[in-house]
Amino acid sequence: MKYGNFINGEWKLSPNDSTFKSINPADPEEIIGEFALGNKQDVIEAYEAAEKAFEIWSKTPAPKRGEILLKAAQLMKEKKEELSLLESREMGKVLVEARGDVQEAIDITEYMAGEGRRLFGFTTPSELKNKFAMTIRKPVGVVGLITPWNFPIAIPAWKIMAALICGNTIVFKPSSDTPFCAIELVKILSEAGIPPGVVNLVTGSGKDVGETITTHPGIRAISFTGSRNTGEHILKIGGIKKIGLELGGKNVIIVMEDADIKLAVDGIIWGAFGTTGQRCTACSRLLVQDTIQKKLESKLIEKARSLIIGPGYEIGTEMGPLINNNALEKSIRYTSIGQDEGAKIIYGGTKLESKGFFFQPTIFNEVSIDMRIAQEEIFGPILSVISFEKLNQAIDYANSVDYGLSSSIYTNDINIAFKAIEEIEAGITYVNSSTIGSEVHLPFGGVKKTGNGTREGGIEGINEFSETKTVYIDYSGKLQKAQIDLDNQ
Ligand code: UN1
Repeated sequence: MKYGNFINGEWKLSPNDSTFKSINPADPEEIIGEFALGNKQDVIEAYEAAEKAFEIWSKTPAPKRGEILLKAAQLMKEKKEELSLLESREMGKVLVEARGDVQEAIDITEYMAGEGRRLFGFTTPSELKNKFAMTIRKPVGVVGLITPWNFPIAIPAWKIMAALICGNTIVFKPSSDTPFCAIELVKILSEAGIPPGVVNLVTGSGKDVGETITTHPGIRAISFTGSRNTGEHILKIGGIKKIGLELGGKNVIIVMEDADIKLAVDGIIWGAFGTTGQRCTACSRLLVQDTIQKKLESKLIEKARSLIIGPGYEIGTEMGPLINNNALEKSIRYTSIGQDEGAKIIYGGTKLESKGFFFQPTIFNEVSIDMRIAQEEIFGPILSVISFEKLNQAIDYANSVDYGLSSSIYTNDINIAFKAIEEIEAGITYVNSSTIGSEVHLPFGGVKKTGNGTREGGIEGINEFSETKTVYIDYSGKLQKAQIDLDNQ
């Protein structure tokens, strides 16, 4: 089956158009569908439709925009199982997690629908008499959204719903590994009553579609989640635009000797091997206090060994495949890099004999912080264990990487917990919980090379997609000069 772009409320694909295929990563011979290989012209048309629709959408009262979002959330709820199954087939994640992904999309849609009745500015006293001061929010304009495959419904929804409630119109380019999920989401939005031209979808390569979106002079903001290289490139070519980036992590779990070990083991396995390690928030470094290292490692090995690996949509599967052959190659490559650097595999390390892109959950120990496996984002099921003696050392190790997205500490000592919260350089710190599992009404994003300071989710997601206008209303009837009329009575 062939699927076109969605521009100005219409699905567009002519018989001669080039297409690309999306496959099932658990069984690459299964083709999910063929999708339009969008080009520059498609982006230009999508922009023009979005520009035109901006007039109507930006003037639609925000609570009314919220009603449409609420309808979309309702439709997603009705289709939750269908969407989850599709996502599991196209992206590979296990069904329970695919349901979580769809639920995250429902949550953000409901949250942003509610924002339609808030979208607060603020008022504050003026320094002058008979003068009123306040801020209001305005949409940014036409925005470009470029999204990854690892949360193929939730992450587009984080961006789309925040952009929509603020009154922006959209040119949306999803990852070429998961175009079908994006199409289903856009169909739901259209069915919910989003007017033509407000959300436009162009599938295709980063080079053609992504670059044209990023450099288009009329597109006022870009929100991108994906690799650091692409993010840095977007910053270089984007020009003067509002640019929001979320570029991954090298997230850490610290386990102190006083911690509840069972709780920590569950959290580490979930953080490192959930979504096959393919979350920006995945745990890829475990810092363990040396006194409990042996005990913790043996429990981790036992748990990793028991994980049932297979197609995500098969009942009982606990870990699915990697997204594609490149991702599989990358995990294989980093496994050799780790061994060459002198680290020791204590579990896993090989790909499975299968057509699909399956790789074992893999644990290295004897890792030192300067090794590449302890510094670079792998985006696969590979965990590096590093031991430490004292908390200060663990915090130094935690902060020794370029990234700063998520982090976690297991301890029952309140003083230790607060020191970690205070000193770990990351956008998110969990105490006694894994590095994954953010909730949509709280800010999501990171420090250092993880991003450029923006956050998604909650009210900060609104900041990403709105401009603040400052308003002064002088009702004194005379010229009043701020900073100059100091003794006005
Ligand atoms: C991501 O991997 O980019 O906290 C997003 C989590 C999810 C979102 C992950 N709620 O792991």
